[in-house]
Amino acid sequence: MGFDVTVLDNLSSGYEKNLEKVKDKIKLVKENVIYSLSTNVLPYIRGQDVMFHLAAIPDPSSCDKHIDEAFKSNVEGTFNLLLSAIKNGINRVIFLSPVHVYGVN
Ligand SMILES: NC(=O)c1ccc[n+]([C@@H]2O[C@H](COP(=O)([O-])OP(=O)(O)OC[C@H]3O[C@@H](n4cnc5c(N)ncnc54)[C@H](O)[C@@H]3O)[C@@H](O)[C@H]2O)c1
Repeated sequence: MGFDVTVLDNLSSGYEKNLEKVKDKIKLVKENVIYSLSTNVLPYIRGQDVMFHLAAIPDPSSCDKHIDEAFKSNVEGTFNLLLSAIKNGINRVIFLSPVHVYGVN
């Protein structure tokens, strides 16, 4: 028994070569999560059973340096992914929150 896995990543910090070992088993879609509701991306979301959301700019210092980009990826991207899940009947979304929500102490 296997799963059909689709990876949505704009490769802004990730590397395609890291997927070398699984490249024949997955579908890689090089797109931005901000566009989850667009006609380019929706077809890859439609029909999925589970959504794992890890697309982010996780490093706080990068977020400080590139605040607009970080807001778009981390906030708008998450919002649009959740909306696209709702619109496509995906009832399970696993979101890995950054540990930084707890603060530095
Ligand atoms: N709570 C925890 O225990 C825990 C543990 C690990 C990771 N995390 C969280 O999971 C997330 C991922 O962590 P990571 O270590 O894999 O980070 P990472 O930086 O290694 O990977 C993030 C990936 O997201 C992609 N990406 C960034 N912005 C994107 C966008 N707008 N559209 C599409 N793809 C985009 C990047 O290209 C990269 O491949 C982070 O938010 C991190 O904080 C939480």
